[in-house]
Amino acid sequence: MVPDRCWDSALASGARDDLAQLAQEAGCQDGTKAARNLLDLQAHMQDPDLLWRCLQSAAASADPDQALTLLDRLLQQLPAQELPALLQAEEACGGLLLLLGGSQLAGQILCRRPQLLAPLIQQQRWQWQRQEQDLTTELSELVGEEPDFATLQSRLRQFKYAELLRICWRDLAGWADVPQITAELSREKGWRITRVSDRVRNPLLGTPDAWEQKVLAEFRQRAKDGASYKGMTYSEVVKEPAGEYYRFMKAIPLQGKCMACHGPKKNLAPAVLETLEKRYPHDQATGYAVGDLRGAFSIKRPLEQ
Ligand code: HEC
Repeated sequence: MVPDRCWDSALASGARDDLAQLAQEAGCQDGTKAARNLLDLQAHMQDPDLLWRCLQSAAASADPDQALTLLDRLLQQLPAQELPALLQAEEACGGLLLLLGGSQLAGQILCRRPQLLAPLIQQQRWQWQRQEQDLTTELSELVGEEPDFATLQSRLRQFKYAELLRICWRDLAGWADVPQITAELSREKGWRITRVSDRVRNPLLGTPDAWEQKVLAEFRQRAKDGASYKGMTYSEVVKEPAGEYYRFMKAIPLQGKCMACHGPKKNLAPAVLETLEKRYPHDQATGYAVGDLRGAFSIKRPLEQ
């Protein structure tokens, strides 16, 4: 749509009343607030045509006021020219405003984690309909060679937020039908990630279930046949009485720096030994050598019924 003739001059001169009226004509309830958002956006974007497109896209969303307010907030969170650059593609601009106007939750997630926006748009993730195979590849990369559980948990949280945004976007921009969306969303809940071992230190957290024991044994067999534990993974769709699950495991080999707490007992510092005896009286997780299999990360995700 061609910008209204007075649009550029209203923006340039900061004519709030004109902007408020244009915003109201586009479907905003609160013209005054919309005008304030628009002027603020213009101060950052310096691009009247792009801003006009944003207003038109916001007007197509469920809540144009919310869309503009969240867009303004998002803009504050990003490096100067990032948002205008990302919005150059018409489809991205339209989709983002539909997302912001259609879901306050999605908007808040984005404002708090603005780094999720660029990959979402650049990779056109709203077009993805994820297959289990893609998930295996992505999770494998996500887990990486990182044995630090806290880092992994925070990465997985980010991953879940990115997935949530992708699914929301698909929904609100009309890329998927309702059954597909509900199925995808229900899968986002009920994810579980653990670290298991066949020689546990903490039996409450690290004891493997039957499937995990089977996979750990299979990892050991693969290593016997000459494979390296580095990057070793296994995934499978498993039927249980409660439903179907996608399950994924990735081997954790021991590195030199792990030896201080998992190496042979005679090599452990007295203070470490003392702590282990006090906190983990049934500890089985010593006596390892570098390169041994310490355990595995295990991810379990429900599939739709
Ligand atoms: C400073 C001591 C220390 C170091 C160094 C250390 N760990 Fe541990 N590790 C522990 C303790 C303590 C636990 C039990 C954690 C708990 O209670 O949740 C544990 C638990 C684990 C578990 C969970 C399964 C189980 O036995 O409970 C894995 C897997 C693991 N460590 C792997 C590693 C790897 C791989 C490294 C090196 C990259 C490493 N650890 C380095 C102290 C250490």
